[in-house]
Amino acid sequence: MTLRTVYVNGEYVPENEARVSIFDRGFLMADGVYEVTSVLGGKLIDFDGHAVRLQRSLDALDMANPISKEDLLEVHRELVRVNEVDEGMIYLQITRGAPGDRDFAFPDPDTTEPTIVLFTQKKPGLADSPAAKKGIKVISIEDIRWGRRDIKTVQLLYPSMGKMMAKKAGADDAWMIEDGFVTEGTSNNAYIVKGNKIITRALSNDILHGITRASVLRFAREAQMEVEERNFTIDEAKDADEAFITSASTFVMPVVEIDGVALGDGVPGRVAQRLREIYLEESLKKAI
Ligand code: PDD
Repeated sequence: MTLRTVYVNGEYVPENEARVSIFDRGFLMADGVYEVTSVLGGKLIDFDGHAVRLQRSLDALDMANPISKEDLLEVHRELVRVNEVDEGMIYLQITRGAPGDRDFAFPDPDTTEPTIVLFTQKKPGLADSPAAKKGIKVISIEDIRWGRRDIKTVQLLYPSMGKMMAKKAGADDAWMIEDGFVTEGTSNNAYIVKGNKIITRALSNDILHGITRASVLRFAREAQMEVEERNFTIDEAKDADEAFITSASTFVMPVVEIDGVALGDGVPGRVAQRLREIYLEESLKKAI
């Protein structure tokens, strides 16, 4: 496999030469935020939304932003270019930096600079995905994450465990439940469809404010589809006509089974399939 060129603190380097300190607070404290932006046809999907949410996550944690939006776009484009990414993702992480020792207190931002890392992930077939034609299976698990899920932090241990629980159960992903209601998937937002109505949890600190979610709901409303932003239970989901998830890495992905219960005919639903088509078509038009 050819070595990727990655970006670390202002420099483009081969992936095997990239270095981050063992004292980095991302490593020691999960004191960092991230974004994942998809690439289709060599262009960035929803870049603006991701840049805005990145700033929001940084502000919420009182962390300095080491790069301007213009420069960030330039780095994304350069990585896509040098790594010849046609379809895939760009991962970006900013941490509070490496103060040279371990301490719970935040370091002085005047002496400790944030760490910034970006790398590409090639995923041929991201748009024309076999999984999207078949649909995915999810299980439900308790949501035991912290209370600020709207901040896109790198504390992903529980979502990773959730994916493993799903895998063990022969499923593809897990939907998390809090007080009886579905919050979201391990790395995606969750939706059900009843009749022609699209139902998804409203925005709050309980879920990540998905960039794909915002676009998909806008496209749905523009296409005169009915959208209801409210809580739903896992039982309501099992009884729904359809279900799907959204994220930068899956776009719109139909869900065909929840906790072993097949939805509708057990195949991807009409609304989810249509939304996937609209999302791909419309976001490609706006890709930069
Ligand atoms: N995950 N909810 C959670 C918990 C997520 O981690 C993500 C994204 C989403 C969807 O957000 P967006 O539409 O902006 O991608 C919702 C990314 C893709 C990841 O961790 O790889």
